[in-house]
Amino acid sequence: MTKLLVANWKMNKNEIEVKDFFTDFLPKYSHKRSAWIAPQAIHFSLVHQLGQTKGVKAGLQNCSENLSGAFTGEISPRTFKEMGGDFVILGHSERRQLFQETSKLLNAKVKTALKEGLKVIYCVGETLPEREAMQTLSIVGDQIHQGLNDMTEASAENLIVAYEPVWAIGTGKTATPAQAQEVHAFIRGELKKKFPAFGEKVQLLYGGSEKPDNVEELLGQKDIDGGLVGGASLKAQDFLALCGDK
Ligand code: PGA
Repeated sequence: MTKLLVANWKMNKNEIEVKDFFTDFLPKYSHKRSAWIAPQAIHFSLVHQLGQTKGVKAGLQNCSENLSGAFTGEISPRTFKEMGGDFVILGHSERRQLFQETSKLLNAKVKTALKEGLKVIYCVGETLPEREAMQTLSIVGDQIHQGLNDMTEASAENLIVAYEPVWAIGTGKTATPAQAQEVHAFIRGELKKKFPAFGEKVQLLYGGSEKPDNVEELLGQKDIDGGLVGGASLKAQDFLALCGDK
């Protein structure tokens, strides 16, 4: 399976910086790995338009669990899909921690976005105190079972799961390949219990200080099918290297 590298640009880049990124990125991008980008929502159309010349998918970093109505400030997954949107990241630890998004709320968001035909990257991961208390697998297991509750195997077809240990996000500390593989194998096992056939082939991404100098070892692990990248995705050269185009 082709590895997938997803850029999570968070609340970064102005319009000129977005254009400059594509000027540097597109000529060298060779599709060795698939590249998707989630810019600030306001830049979706720009990224979609620039990226589609080379099949770079554009996505959101969050969306509403509702389709329309009186929800000031929210983005409808239906409207997004109609505009040509491809995917949405849901449950990023910054959404869970800074915006109090619970796995129960995320379950509603995941189901709605999938129903609208979007691909969903559902994020899970433990904090440092949870890892130190040996709770990693139980925390991640709960996030999987609560966030993906009440779903049929058919409805999960466009689901991708990202394991992002919270202590590794933006900190420069990366999970070792063995630590990441252990949790990825666990996640695949849990997904197989819910979705026997799909769990076997679901794409599992690692996220947390992934950079050109650690990506090959991480992607070399059996259950790591790609990466969800913050800091290192902001520079075209680094994201090219992550995509296998040095
Ligand atoms: P990072 O962020 O690569 O900067 O650690 C990853 C993420 O938040 O998705």
